[in-house]
Amino acid sequence: MSLEDRAALLGQHPATVWLTGLSGAGKSTLAFALEHYLTGKGHACFVLDGDNVRHGLNRDLGFSAEHRTENIRRIAEVARLMNDAGLVVLSAFISPYRADRELARQIIGEDRFIEVYVATPMVICEQRDVKGLYQRARSGEIADFTGISAPYEPPENPMAIIDTSLATVDVASAQLAQIFMPRLRF
Ligand code: ADX
Repeated sequence: MSLEDRAALLGQHPATVWLTGLSGAGKSTLAFALEHYLTGKGHACFVLDGDNVRHGLNRDLGFSAEHRTENIRRIAEVARLMNDAGLVVLSAFISPYRADRELARQIIGEDRFIEVYVATPMVICEQRDVKGLYQRARSGEIADFTGISAPYEPPENPMAIIDTSLATVDVASAQLAQIFMPRLRF
């Protein structure tokens, strides 16, 4: 079955919406809100995030620069396969290194890769500290923590920038979807 046949079957041109940003920025929340919104518009979607990838496929990987690179490479390969299968992929990973995101762009394909910067400020992410990890990173209990003891390189030319401290997740996801939904239409 050709990619075009699959696009016709599912009534969409697949793409990967690549959400990048700090831990606690709201990437997964946004990805699930987008899934909800897009599903409501008839799009078949799938969310890839730490919960379904780092506990399974990538359970052998930690947070060194090398392991993060491999984490992102595998995720990009999975996203590509899911796109080939016709699905819209919503991916929610810190993906802190520009070079890793560029590799993801190459693997997934320039025309299918939609980079979104979830630019919630670090102070807000740290205030939220949903998983208590910032506190543990500050105390030195966790090493190589993004934003504290490991770098985050913001995208230079993302398709969209969202600060989840400024809008509700429903508003943010609906606004975001308006930007790339024309790209998905069959
Ligand atoms: S990435 O850098 O390789 O893209 P990924 O998005 O998969 O990271 O995982 C990030 C999540 O792992 C964080 O939201 C946090 O819950 C957890 N985590 C555990 N240790 C670290 C760390 N050292 N740096 C960042 N996140 C960590």
